[in-house]
Amino acid sequence: VRRFVIVGNKARGGFSLDDLPGTSGRLDLLLRSARAALLVSHGVRRDTIVYLVLGGDPAGPRTLRIDGPTAKFLRPDERAFAVIAQKALASSTGFGDPTRGVSVAAGGLDLALADAGPGALYVLDEAAPRDLREGTIDPDPIFVLGDHLGLDPATRARVGGAALRIGPVSVHADDAVAVVVNELDRQGR
Ligand SMILES: C[S@@+](CC[C@H](N)C(=O)[O-])C[C@H]1O[C@@H](n2cnc3c(N)ncnc32)[C@H](O)[C@@H]1O
Repeated sequence: VRRFVIVGNKARGGFSLDDLPGTSGRLDLLLRSARAALLVSHGVRRDTIVYLVLGGDPAGPRTLRIDGPTAKFLRPDERAFAVIAQKALASSTGFGDPTRGVSVAAGGLDLALADAGPGALYVLDEAAPRDLREGTIDPDPIFVLGDHLGLDPATRARVGGAALRIGPVSVHADDAVAVVVNELDRQGR
């Protein structure tokens, strides 16, 4: 199973679908990252689970989990993803049953990592000495990425794991996810 954890420093619910970037603390970036991790042309990657950490909710962090094995009605447009997120955030009843496909629980990065369970942990970091193309990725990897604000040093230290860079240029998180996914496909992971 592939798992991706995208840390939204200010992302939050209670947004307007008509101005997602301006009203959601850039949840739009996280949703595009989820799309890059989960969708292929005409299909869903059933081997992938995505955690979107919403660190900007006034009542405390929450995490949205999208389970590739069971998720239904995922479409590639950002608004459709935002509608799914909006509905899940409105109930926010805990991760519970993964057959629901999309769920929300109170808690942030620590919760996401605990729920992701065991696996090879990688942090995508522009300054990492190791390039994604050097060596192979371990089975059942978990990748942690930042949003437009990146990962602050304290968070980075908390995560641990192996740092990986995907190339010499800092790109948007969704593009970084697409590069990783492509490399995993090439490595048959
Ligand atoms: C737009 S970047 C963050 C930029 C932010 N201003 C910073 O300085 O950290 C979003 C995230 O994508 C990932 N990322 C982007 N480019 C990368 C690269 N070349 N190598 C590894 N990770 C990268 C990192 O996880 C990063 O936190």
